[in-house]
Amino acid sequence: MEDFAKYNSNLENIFHLWIDTSSTPYTNKSSNVAEQIRSLVSIDALKESGVFFTGDNLADKAIRELAAPFTEGSYIIDPTCGSGNLLIAATKLLHVLPTASETLKTWGGKLCGIDIFPEFVYCTKLRIILEVLIRGATLDEPLEKLLSYLPNIFQGNCLDFTTEISKATHIVMNPPFNASDSVVDYEWAKGKISNAAVYYYEIVKSANDGCCVSAILPDVLRSGSRFKNWRDSASNLSDGKISIEGRFDNLTDIDIFILSGIKSSATDNTIPWQKKSECLQTSQLGEFFNISVGTVVPYRDPHEGELYSYIHPKILPKWEEYEKPQEFRYYSGKTHTPPFVVIRRTSGPRDKCRAVPTLILGTAPIAVENHLIVLKPKSGGLKNCRELMKALEKEYVNEFLNERIRCRHLTVTAVSEIPWSKS
Ligand SMILES: C[S@@+](CC[C@H](N)C(=O)[O-])C[C@H]1O[C@@H](n2cnc3c(N)ncnc32)[C@H](O)[C@@H]1O
Repeated sequence: MEDFAKYNSNLENIFHLWIDTSSTPYTNKSSNVAEQIRSLVSIDALKESGVFFTGDNLADKAIRELAAPFTEGSYIIDPTCGSGNLLIAATKLLHVLPTASETLKTWGGKLCGIDIFPEFVYCTKLRIILEVLIRGATLDEPLEKLLSYLPNIFQGNCLDFTTEISKATHIVMNPPFNASDSVVDYEWAKGKISNAAVYYYEIVKSANDGCCVSAILPDVLRSGSRFKNWRDSASNLSDGKISIEGRFDNLTDIDIFILSGIKSSATDNTIPWQKKSECLQTSQLGEFFNISVGTVVPYRDPHEGELYSYIHPKILPKWEEYEKPQEFRYYSGKTHTPPFVVIRRTSGPRDKCRAVPTLILGTAPIAVENHLIVLKPKSGGLKNCRELMKALEKEYVNEFLNERIRCRHLTVTAVSEIPWSKS
């Protein structure tokens, strides 16, 4: 991130320009910083360290979602503050005093930001100082002095600062979304874990009861089956409200949601992870079909056992009926006997249709690759399969799945919950 120091030099120049002219075109827009960092730092480096900064509207929304307003005694922490976008959004609700020094002394007691990269920490401080000037405070002291009024914005690993976190009245965060090997053994995950899941859990665990929390998180935590245990653990930390926000920004194709609530050690917290849409009052697909993921993993499974017809997404025509598969393989695992419908597991919220099916006909058992979800009617055979093919085209299925699961893979649970009535 050293390249980002260039951006900080620009900010310092703007500060000095302020002294010279008392006016500057600088706007302190978070989107400007996001653009700068993308032009200065390679996308691979950004992905590796989970550095994606929140845009202005989303940052404002995350602050608005906090369950209680700021008061005299508030202490607002962003444990992974980056260039300070969430803290800048928070300052919009803080009063400005006549001079920069007075304002920063007050804000400095209320704002805490931690980041692993010193360049970002410095950027956050500079931007807060510029924000004070933009909001009309008189510049009355040199930069070095003003920087010293923000002692709680510092470089470090936020997971090491549990005592600091416990002082928070408000926590607002957009943790890194990359995954890494966890050093801790969690009940809810093993091996490589999403850092967003870890940071949310650790930070909220360190907070005191009553602390308001608003977190921007990847949608997979809300909707993915493999995060069910994480959701149960998160529900033990706070109550909560969910706001589904869609795509993070134009350049980052990842869906996010805001989880906001109040830290509480009570065990009866509830978080409505999935919206109970009215559709859910009707029957669900899982009542009428046995639903499972195909079991063949081509690069891993040995070619042994009996010889079967073999299907995988590349050979199947979308939205059509398919008989007499052309590919075969030896297989000793689970097979499926037609008629049944398969849906492609890879599916994202920007696709025209989320659940793209093929109806498989025939009488002999078939080996199914694991990028396909198999839906075998519990009764009604081919007729039910054909009804299902028609139903999957309907807009309500897309709407349901887009709300239920915004990550790139459909799950058996999400497909089982698709509203369905045979009529
Ligand atoms: C997704 S960015 C969000 C930044 C900022 N909160 C925002 O909303 O724009 C995540 C930030 O976490 C920082 N980070 C990663 N690991 C950290 C750690 N262990 N402690 C503190 N900050 C960390 C990264 O440097 C990055 O700036």
